[in-house]
Amino acid sequence: MSHSSPACSRRTFLLGTATTFAGAFLAACGSNPPKEVEATEVPVGSAVILGSVIIAQPKEGEFVAYSSACPHQGQFITEVDGDVVTCTKHNSKFSIMDGSLISGPATSGLRDANLTQEGDTLSASVI
Ligand code: FES
Repeated sequence: MSHSSPACSRRTFLLGTATTFAGAFLAACGSNPPKEVEATEVPVGSAVILGSVIIAQPKEGEFVAYSSACPHQGQFITEVDGDVVTCTKHNSKFSIMDGSLISGPATSGLRDANLTQEGDTLSASVI
């Protein structure tokens, strides 16, 4: 088992028999486990929203992750349309290409999230 990525990114800890590690998982990350998705489920030039994180694929094979908490007032962003995500609370729009702000009332872009890849599985968690 590799330890190159943070312990909390490993789904196997939830399934396996290593109860010591499962305990560590819960202690370290229980309130905010990483969100996982198969890389093939993230559309090229668009994104998927998984609760507190957004995982995007601006160009084929390039993945990025952002916090889905709107930088305006913290509402979770829930809408994706092509390469634009929208916070429906006050209609701020952001580019999934780089997280930048397209239109307010937010005054800044999306915050980055941690992203790791293991095989075909992407794991993202807010920083
Ligand atoms: S909280 Fe997102 S636009 Fe206001």
